[in-house]
Amino acid sequence: MQVLHDVDLVIKEQFTLLKGSKILYLDTAATSLKPEMVIEAECEFYRRRYATVHRSLYPRAQEATKDLYLTRELIRKRIGAPSVKGVIFTRAATDSLNQAAQFLMQIIEGGGEILISPLEHHANLLPFKALEKKGLLKIRDLPVHPSGAVNFEALFKMDLSNVSALTIAHVSNVTGVTQDLKQLGAICRTKNWVFIVDAAQSLAHKKLDVVDCEIDFLAFSAHKMYGPTGVGALYIADRFVDLLEPINYGGDMILELDRDMHFQEPPLKFEAGTPAIAQIIGWKEALNFQNSAIFEKKVETFGHIASAYREGLKAINGVEILSAPDSESIITFVVNGVHSMDLALLLGEKGVEVRSGSLCALNALKFFEVNSFLRVSLGIYNTLDEVDSFFNKLKKVLQIF
Ligand SMILES: Cc1ncc(COP(=O)(O)O)c(C=O)c1O
Repeated sequence: MQVLHDVDLVIKEQFTLLKGSKILYLDTAATSLKPEMVIEAECEFYRRRYATVHRSLYPRAQEATKDLYLTRELIRKRIGAPSVKGVIFTRAATDSLNQAAQFLMQIIEGGGEILISPLEHHANLLPFKALEKKGLLKIRDLPVHPSGAVNFEALFKMDLSNVSALTIAHVSNVTGVTQDLKQLGAICRTKNWVFIVDAAQSLAHKKLDVVDCEIDFLAFSAHKMYGPTGVGALYIADRFVDLLEPINYGGDMILELDRDMHFQEPPLKFEAGTPAIAQIIGWKEALNFQNSAIFEKKVETFGHIASAYREGLKAINGVEILSAPDSESIITFVVNGVHSMDLALLLGEKGVEVRSGSLCALNALKFFEVNSFLRVSLGIYNTLDEVDSFFNKLKKVLQIF
């Protein structure tokens, strides 16, 4: 227990926003707070090391280019990608998934159907909906259990003859369920479907291996991984990365220009224009933080903290927990007769910062037949000690209704 307490102290020391503050930040699934090392790396780059990347040859520009590649290499390792050529910097998971949808169109020229779970975040639904609207693709519901886990039995009862792709969140931002990517990847490979994974909620606290899980496209955001906003990545599997045409055109991605365009090799081919250099450099420090022993030790305790929240909620009359029973960092619930947004607003006034509303998943509201969710989500800085304070404040707020 003392060891854990020490770990908590060391971690909290990194988060200035929380130091000496009574704020209880429980909205990491929306965006994580930033450790000092990330803030410092970004500031220091702007302050003393600022330069562009790729094009210029003076030492500072070469240093910045090197740093950018170090970030890419750390990402490659975190997701088990065979090489950096399939690790493309984007603006964030939303941009990555929009690009994945466009790339999918190049792959499945004949169209077909894509399986999407009814619990997906809009970022992993609307890019495909837009294609469906143009008549290029048909969306089919991927059957799921109430926990959000894929219902394989129901899946195999479906007529899957026109399916060409499947997309799903590794960890749901609504139920916190973790999908069995290995099993899904094996099914996709056997059936020759393109396998797209939204890892926006998982890569903050979980590792995954894109090769082992046979993933074709993997999307994620730095700002949910303790890194800066404005940057993310899209991994593209080797079997596609050399065949795809870029989606964005401009500087840095072209090698030769005659009547035709001759592109740089991937990943540069897919990264037109000046990237978010300072943010990518900040992201490197976030990845180093995630790789530290103290970070990994703390992540192992998430299950206990999540259980403490679930147990506390179960003891309150009228609370219905909607997240998966084994969710490690997300606890979503409703309180009968009380609007989640009213609760979130009043909790916020007491320094308890939770998320309410649709969680950018309007279909999930329909799935659970509720009008609004309340979500507690955990980050590396949350502790078991905070749980009592959360429930004291929640109970006080509930007395108002
Ligand atoms: C599961 C999931 N996918 C995608 C996104 C979109 O991420 P971003 O807003 O960083 O692009 C989110 C953000 O909340 C999410 O939770």
